[in-house]
Amino acid sequence: MRARTVLAISAIVILGLLASLVGPRPERAAAADKPADAPAPVKANMHDFMEALFQGPQRRLKAGMAAEPKDNAGWKVIRSEALTLAEGSNGLLLRKPEKDAEEWSKYSVASRDAAAEVYKAARAKDFTAAKKAYEAMVGHCNACHKKFDEHNHQIVP
Ligand code: HEC
Repeated sequence: MRARTVLAISAIVILGLLASLVGPRPERAAAADKPADAPAPVKANMHDFMEALFQGPQRRLKAGMAAEPKDNAGWKVIRSEALTLAEGSNGLLLRKPEKDAEEWSKYSVASRDAAAEVYKAARAKDFTAAKKAYEAMVGHCNACHKKFDEHNHQIVP
């Protein structure tokens, strides 16, 4: 009788251990554990996201980069729009597709870092550095579009 009880308890313990190994899935566990103040993407499709956070800033940045700014207002345009695109690219990291997520992340990080370089150069009022980083940034935008945008939207710097 006692041996049976011990056996039964052991079986329950082993089953419990096994269950903890197979489930729940790690991502589900992570979702359940996410604190309420963790960044969470607003439900929106990628078209609306790009239009809202990228299209306007890119147009204004392009206009701002056409020639070296002559005054603070000109530099402010470059600073602001570059910073918006950098943080917008951070937002892309919250919106990874199920397929090829690693590649998505790679383009998002490259776009963020290049936009951050534009911002940094604009703060230092270094137009040559800003231009170089801006062209690199557009290259990363376009690389992602080539892979993930079915319309392959190519931006001209
Ligand atoms: C990680 C991938 C990724 C990166 C990086 C990326 N985009 Fe996009 N972008 C997309 C996808 C996907 C679409 C297509 C959205 C759709 O219409 O479904 C798109 C579409 C667009 C569009 C077209 C929106 C429209 O109205 O049709 C613009 C403009 C745009 N992106 C700007 C940019 C700019 C500027 C950058 C770089 C600063 C950038 N994107 C970086 C994925 C990316």
